[in-house]
This record gives sequence, C-alpha cells and structure tokens, in this order.
Amino acid sequence: MSAPVIRFAGVSKRYGRAPVLRAVDLAVAAGEFFGLVGVNGAGKTTLIKCMLDFCALDAGSIELFGIRHTLPRARARLAFLPERFLPPYYLTGRDFLGFMLSLQDRPHDDDAVARMLAVLDLDPAALDRPVRAYSKGMTQKLGLAACFLSGRDLYVLDEPMSGLDPKARAGVKALLAELRGRGATLFFTSHALSDVAEICDRMVILHQGVPYFAGAPRSLCDHYGESSLERAFLRCIEAPADA
Ligand SMILES: Nc1ncnc2c1ncn2[C@@H]1O[C@H](COP(=O)(O)OP(=O)(O)OP(=O)(O)O)[C@@H](O)[C@H]1O
Ligand SMILES: [Mg+2]
Repeated sequence: MSAPVIRFAGVSKRYGRAPVLRAVDLAVAAGEFFGLVGVNGAGKTTLIKCMLDFCALDAGSIELFGIRHTLPRARARLAFLPERFLPPYYLTGRDFLGFMLSLQDRPHDDDAVARMLAVLDLDPAALDRPVRAYSKGMTQKLGLAACFLSGRDLYVLDEPMSGLDPKARAGVKALLAELRGRGATLFFTSHALSDVAEICDRMVILHQGVPYFAGAPRSLCDHYGESSLERAFLRCIEAPADA
C-alpha cells in the first residue's frame, strides 16, 4: 500500500488544562474519501488546525504526503476550507477568486470559473459585488469555488455543506465525484451523517479526544445493530468503549 497522504501519530492537544485530543492515531490513504464526525466540541476543527500547523501539538507528529506538517511544502498540494470561511470583506468575489488562483499558481480560466459558479449555483453577477454583501450560503459557495478550482491533490473541508441550499449541496457532491475520478483525497467533517455515508469510503467518530469506530459508514449501523445512522452514532458516543 502507498504511504498515507495524512498521518497523525499520537497527537495530543490541550487548551489550557483541558485536553482536546488524546494521542490520536489516524491515517488517510491516497485517493481515500474520509469523513470525521463527532458532537460539537469533540475536537474535529482542532485536529484540522493541528494538521495545518495553525497551532502547536503537545505531543505526537503529523505528516502530509510524508512531509512533516510544520514544513510549508507539506501543504503545497492541499486546498482548505475553514468551518467559518470569511474572505476579506472589501474584496469583490472576482478579486477573491483571482487572488486565490494566483496564490495557487493556477491560470485564470474564465470558462472554468463560469462552470464552477454554475455547478454551485452562484450568480456570476455576484462576482462584481463586495463579499460583505454576500449571504452566508453565497460566501460558502465562493470559498468552495476557490477550493475546487485549485486543482490540488488533497481537500481538507471543515463542514463544507454548512449553509448550502439543496441545489448547491448536490453541486458539491458532483464536484466531489469529479475529484474522486481524478484520484484526489478528501478529509472532511460533517454533522450530516447521511452526507458522510453518501460521500465517504471511511469515517471516524471523534469523541472525548479519541477516535472511535473507524470503518465504512454503511457498516456503522451493523456494528451497533441499529437501523439508523443517528442511533448508531448515539450508541457509539454513549458507550464508546464498545466501539
Ligand atoms: N482557541 C481555543 N481556546 C480554547 N479552547 C478552544 C479553542 N478552540 C477550541 N477550543 C475548545 O476545544 C474543544 C474542541 O473544539 P473544536 O472547535 O475542535 O470542536 P469541533 O469538533 O470542531 O466542534 P463543532 O462541531 O462545533 O465545530 C472545545 O471544547 C472548544 O471549546
Ligand atoms: Mg468544528
């Protein structure tokens, strides 16, 4: 098997005295679509912040593409959408996309941008308005457009469906299917277990700083003898030691 694209080894993180991540071991293979779920405050975003070197680890190590995560080149093949995506308020949508494409060293392809906006159902006329005049969902679509236009190999998306209408959610799923077709890797978080089941090859439930139930989403129900994903999830976090 090829080396994992993402590898967490014994990663621990506290805020003050409160432990958030406890010796997390996790690996995501090239081409895998991976979903991280857990209750509010479980540590999902913290795990991503650790991965991206936005905060220091208390213990353990992380590698991206086999490169230590603190080295900038570890992130060279990665596109990231934060859970609270806030582009600079004074830019127009067009300026923001142009800025992101230049940062990513990508050519500005008007046809690719137009197609992306169509798939995400974002009115092209909005690109000429400052992003401070966007609704929450429009802002999210702009961030997703910048990620999907990046042409990168690894997509780290923290609650990418947040605030999206059903049409845009379907568009994101179509774009993810395209990424899968070209062998990209996905690491995403979501509270919508049905999305995780539809999109991911494998999921992990993070609870009290520890990963539980690593497996195919469709096997979560079987594992807990439940017929609904929500109930199986609740069983896992109520008695994680059984996982
Ligand atoms: N900068 C910070 N300073 C102190 N505590 C923090 C900080 N960031 C997060 N925390 C705490 O760490 C824990 C995990 O937060 P995190 O944002 O990683 O959760 P999450 O799983 O992403 O939750 P959600 O589903 O709500 O996005 C929470 O208890 C939170 O209060
Ligand atoms: Mg979060």
